[in-house]
Amino acid sequence: MSKAIQAVRGMNDLLPEVVERWQRIEAGARDVLHAYGYREIRLPILEKSELFARSIGSQTDIVEKEMYSFEDRHGENLTLRPEGTAGCVRAGIENGFLHNQIQRLWYAGPMFRHERPQKGRYRQFHQIGVEAFGIESADLDAELIFMCVRLWRALGFDGLTLQLNSLGTLECRAAYRRELVHYLETQRGKLDEDSLRRLDRNPLRILDSKNPAMQEIIAAAPDLFEHLDDASRAHFERLGDYLRQAGVAFTVNPRLVRGLDYYTRTVFEWTTDRLGAQSAVGAGGRYDGLVEQLGGRPTPAAGFAIGLERLAELLALQGGSHQGVRPHGYLVLLGEEAERQGLSLAERLRDAGLRIECNGGGGGLKTQLKRADRSGARHALLLGEDEVRNASITIKDLRDGAQRSIAQNELIDFLLGSNLKNKEDKATADERRR
Ligand code: HAM
Repeated sequence: MSKAIQAVRGMNDLLPEVVERWQRIEAGARDVLHAYGYREIRLPILEKSELFARSIGSQTDIVEKEMYSFEDRHGENLTLRPEGTAGCVRAGIENGFLHNQIQRLWYAGPMFRHERPQKGRYRQFHQIGVEAFGIESADLDAELIFMCVRLWRALGFDGLTLQLNSLGTLECRAAYRRELVHYLETQRGKLDEDSLRRLDRNPLRILDSKNPAMQEIIAAAPDLFEHLDDASRAHFERLGDYLRQAGVAFTVNPRLVRGLDYYTRTVFEWTTDRLGAQSAVGAGGRYDGLVEQLGGRPTPAAGFAIGLERLAELLALQGGSHQGVRPHGYLVLLGEEAERQGLSLAERLRDAGLRIECNGGGGGLKTQLKRADRSGARHALLLGEDEVRNASITIKDLRDGAQRSIAQNELIDFLLGSNLKNKEDKATADERRR
């Protein structure tokens, strides 16, 4: 046997049990997004590399170290998107739907970063991202946070913490950066290797260092908050008011700087203490300068993205009895004639809105019943020689083993009656029968 090929490191297969958990998050998110008037946009996974250098920032870790970039056959430099905001803004400018308009958009899909894989940190991961354009006031920032709160509630997550900061305008951040570098230079001898590397290129990220040895230096660093311009300060206070009014708890974290350069004013991050080191389950903020920076007309904007791997892990930790989608019945087919009739019987049942898994590939009664059990169906529907002759079907309840025989033309009503406790299923079935 030749050696089996394995998946690329940091890129995971999602097996059906896991996918069911993801679908629950996706469905919850979709409900919330629709409740706030957001519309889906689908964007390419590959973009020109320059897009990310110009938006995320050429001196960020993502652009410097983590991008999957390559030259295509024509020598064009392309990158697998490491995030979705840049592509969404690019699409907005290119398709002309940003200027003088309010747009509320969302997208979902894989993102790629060549980070060191560990639990909760992958090289291919998935986000649901939300971007809103054309609203400068803090009510938008609040709306984005309310959406997250509503999603956490729908998924039964409690104990998530909201951290909030303001980075001010690009100008006041530049002034702060100068002062910070000046201070850090005086501490040069005590800086760790990572911070020394960041000192020239991206000093604000030093504030984000998790190294305990750096905490004292960071604590004594000048405060970005004190450098905020009046309008940014007012914006931040207004957001705080909105959140307090809605009873949304938050912590102001003046060291929250984020790893992408496009942010202005509000930045926020949702964290949990249940996932170890990779504690951020979602993050975002305002990026009022980005549209212009990428060649569009000045347009205020803000958004966030949630990480599906981390949320699915939280959902798994939470346990619960979510079953995913199970068939209503498993059709057991015994004998040639039953096999011949079985496929069309299954089609008729599906026409009535039922989910039916039909035995394939033959097998004896015992084998087929085992498969029926594994399918998760409540009932095995047995079609054998006798049943074919009498136009009947034997129904075996797979929970208690009880067995009964009914006429085939009563089967749909039986299955609808006993299986469709779920309101949504019932509505779909009624719709189809009409
Ligand atoms: P981000 O903080 O880089 O922001 O990513 C958002 C979320 O994606 C994180 O909070 C985390 O849950 C998840 N995530 C990031 N990297 C990984 C990874 N390597 N493995 C697993 N999950 C990961 C952005 O991407 C911005 N585009 C968010 C945004 C949208 N800001 C404004 N609009």
